[in-house]
Amino acid sequence: MTTELPEDLLQAALEVRQQAYAPFSEFLVGAALQTTSGEIFRGCNVENRSYGLTNCAERVALGAAVAAGFRQFDLLVIATSGGVVPCGACRQVLVEFCQQLTVFLVDVDKDPQAVGFVQSVELAELLPGSPTL
Ligand code: THU
Repeated sequence: MTTELPEDLLQAALEVRQQAYAPFSEFLVGAALQTTSGEIFRGCNVENRSYGLTNCAERVALGAAVAAGFRQFDLLVIATSGGVVPCGACRQVLVEFCQQLTVFLVDVDKDPQAVGFVQSVELAELLPGSPTL
């Protein structure tokens, strides 16, 4: 089954990536999380000079959604240079709320028309064997 990436969700991830506070790594991350009822929540990475206190974009988006009263999600877009997969901590935090989540990995270095600009993966593939699945 191929899930389409909604244009507004893509744009949200690209836009919020510009808000990333990443003076230490200079690696900007934008995340846009869509609820099952269609709302979009945004997050960017927020770094700290005490490096371990850094918040990843995915967890910032998830926290904003939960704080607004939403707990069911079906799509996540992560926009980065290179189209990286979410870290292990984010996978675990996402699984807490998502039985099934399609994750779109967007490589901002590629032309939007190019093969590989967007790839998709299921959260269950990224974190197999999770007790909540
Ligand atoms: N980062 C995220 O925000 N999400 C990811 O999926 C990968 C890593 C951030 C953390 C840190 O600010 C920077 O990217 C470099 O690791």
